[in-house]
Amino acid sequence: MLAPPAWTHDRLHDLITTRLAGVKFIVVSNREPYMHRYGEGGEAEWIFTAGGLATALRPILMASKGTWIAHGAGDADRGTVDEHDRISVPPDNPCYTLRRVWLTREQEERYYYGFANEGLWPLCHITFTRPAFRLADWESYQEVNRLFAQAVIEEAGDGPAIVFIQDYHFCLLPRMLKDMGKPNLTVAQFWHIPWPNHDMFRPCPWKSELVDGMLGNDLLGFHIRNHCQNFLETVDRSVEARTDREKWHVSRGGRTTAIRPFPISIDYAEDVARAESPEVAAAMEKWRRKLRLKDRLLGAGIERLDYTKGIPERLRALDLFLEQHPEWHRKFVFLQIAAPSRTHIPAYQAVEDEIEGLVEHINWRWGRDGWLPVEFLKQHHGPTDMIALHRLSRFFLVNSLHDGMNLVAKEFVASRVDEDGVLILSRFTGAFRELDSAIGVNPFAIHETADAIHQALTMEQPERMARMRKMRECVAVNNVYRWAGKILSHVMKLDTPELGLNVDIGVE
Ligand code: G6P
Repeated sequence: MLAPPAWTHDRLHDLITTRLAGVKFIVVSNREPYMHRYGEGGEAEWIFTAGGLATALRPILMASKGTWIAHGAGDADRGTVDEHDRISVPPDNPCYTLRRVWLTREQEERYYYGFANEGLWPLCHITFTRPAFRLADWESYQEVNRLFAQAVIEEAGDGPAIVFIQDYHFCLLPRMLKDMGKPNLTVAQFWHIPWPNHDMFRPCPWKSELVDGMLGNDLLGFHIRNHCQNFLETVDRSVEARTDREKWHVSRGGRTTAIRPFPISIDYAEDVARAESPEVAAAMEKWRRKLRLKDRLLGAGIERLDYTKGIPERLRALDLFLEQHPEWHRKFVFLQIAAPSRTHIPAYQAVEDEIEGLVEHINWRWGRDGWLPVEFLKQHHGPTDMIALHRLSRFFLVNSLHDGMNLVAKEFVASRVDEDGVLILSRFTGAFRELDSAIGVNPFAIHETADAIHQALTMEQPERMARMRKMRECVAVNNVYRWAGKILSHVMKLDTPELGLNVDIGVE
């Protein structure tokens, strides 16, 4: 039997332009794909925003040419939009619309920092950071969800539209949209973070309202089956609804919501092309000099500075490794890059202080004759630098305490066009279900990560390459176009009167 054709940018584009011709495609997320801010010379400049969501959705919008609605958070954002708050992006190759929604300082404080990131984020990640639920934050969360609902209705116009909502910032938006009486909206949502079991979700005082809001969706996606099952359990125990665990759907108030796992991914082909580019080769040279690598091996970790990523645990593991393996002193350098994130929140400030203290401690304890084992850069880096560092690393460390997927692990694998390099990966990431040729670790067990670092540094090349090949084959097939293609195909299969499609195009 012939293998089904691989998912590519063009195949997704064809699906949207042929099967969904005349249907508007609208993506909603809090984080915008590109942000404008004032540079040092006072000129507006643009940057790629950090985080898995923007990484995954950018190529989808390029293929679909739809509209992306998001919070305009950059200080130069207002100066770059038209009178309808729209701008064509990517800034260097405009081909789809970004519609920016403005929030007041207070809304940002309460809805984004407060309810979303001090409430739902720790609640869903189970990393032993207590969630905080404040009434004022909840009120602001409702208000901002209404603001976005209004923007969606404006962008949708009169014809049929598919609204694809992202993440935990918009639990109430699906129901609000369905209640606004526009008849031809099909609503799907993807939850980018874990969904915990019901006992962990119970502390949220507005859990029934959140679940009810999400049951406004026609389709609700999580990364893995386990999160779907946890959600179904939460539904059973918090609202009046009928859950069908065979068909994986929930019926409430005459509406049905399909619940499905869709493991998110990256634009593998684009990362491969970039990894082979002269720009990346030049960046590799730059980093070799900057890190004074010479014949030293490189280990690296690159992510947002977030307490869920397990950076202090990683540094403690390095400290233990250096204690146990003096033969490795001066023979490698570990580079930790952390892009500042949500710095306004005390738990983020605390983890940053902890990381700085640990880096100082390790370098003081083990550094000799100009060699410092850890280099820490608290800075956002673009894709060229990140891929160059992937390519230079003997091992790459992803030891998140809990992560819905973790696209950084997949990016590392895609960058390794030489099929070399070792991935150390937390078993508590969605990615570990696919990348099981990585060295798996329990991130809470420091000694496991220390052992994994030793295993990575001493692994022979044939084994490194065999493991890497397996992981690359997996990410090449299960790329972000497949993720989006499967979600869209599922939407088309739904028996929703809104779209009037109900076609099964048999996508696998
Ligand atoms: C995670 C979340 C995204 C978020 C990203 C970056 O990947 O699932 O929704 O956009 O982190 O965080 P930020 O708060 O900067 O948007």
